Amino acid sequence: MEVIIVKTGEQVGKVAADIIATGMLRKPDFVLGLATGSTPLKTYTELVRKHKEGGLDFSKTTTFNLDEYLGLPMTHPQSYYYFMWENLFKHVNINPENIHVPSGQILDCEGFCEAYENEIVDAGGIDLQLLGIGRDGHIAFNEPGSSLYSRTRLKTLTKETVEDNARVFDDPDEVPRFAVTMGVGTVIDARRIVLIANGTGKAQAIFDAVEGPVSSQCTASALQLHPKTTVIVDEGAASKLERREYYDWIRDNKRQIHDIIEKQIRKRLRLEHKDWG
Ligand code: GLP
Repeated sequence: MEVIIVKTGEQVGKVAADIIATGMLRKPDFVLGLATGSTPLKTYTELVRKHKEGGLDFSKTTTFNLDEYLGLPMTHPQSYYYFMWENLFKHVNINPENIHVPSGQILDCEGFCEAYENEIVDAGGIDLQLLGIGRDGHIAFNEPGSSLYSRTRLKTLTKETVEDNARVFDDPDEVPRFAVTMGVGTVIDARRIVLIANGTGKAQAIFDAVEGPVSSQCTASALQLHPKTTVIVDEGAASKLERREYYDWIRDNKRQIHDIIEKQIRKRLRLEHKDWG
């Protein structure tokens, strides 16, 4: 797990967007897993800027969103579909046929969840999954106690999550208690994961996820088992990390890797030149 600590939430968004854009440039038919919540907003603003000013091309990109509230239609301003459309999709050249957000209005829940999993497989799997984190350490809507092998399914939200989500609903009674969500197993099948967090309110969750034991009580801790996860946090969200010094040490020393490899290449070339006479 790579931990990148930056000063502000703005920088968190920029670093995440740079990683996503690099992946999209390398592979035009990139399969991108997307998250909702306030944290990814800056990442989306930056991706839109890269599209408008730098020509970042979404025409062959396929997206899969993590979750959706049960019972909310796509047109509801608090639905995750609406959120994604407002904050990213309508601003870029993505083909609407390539957008996948779980439906909140399903009739056959099991059938829908199985089909969603199959769609991810048919698309070739997720190349990069962007994640936020809940205060209780949940990823997507995998609340504490979710199996670390879980797949897409219906989940009952905790009281804490319902309270957190209430801030964006006009009527607190309207806040959904259930959601359709990718499972932890679905998330960690992605080839690369980028988890972002801002502010001291997320500090404990980030500590548990990065330095705590792997446990279903903090589903983000499952990312410790993933071979390519990058955690990008601001100073507030990093404030409880105990190995902070080591993460900074890695960052400072990493700069040398490039120099060392370049030196080795130059040495090898010199030797080959000698062989050629
Ligand atoms: C919800 C979403 C998560 C998100 C979390 C945190 O629970 N299902 O995907 O990470 O909210 O949201 P925020 O970024 O607003 O703190």
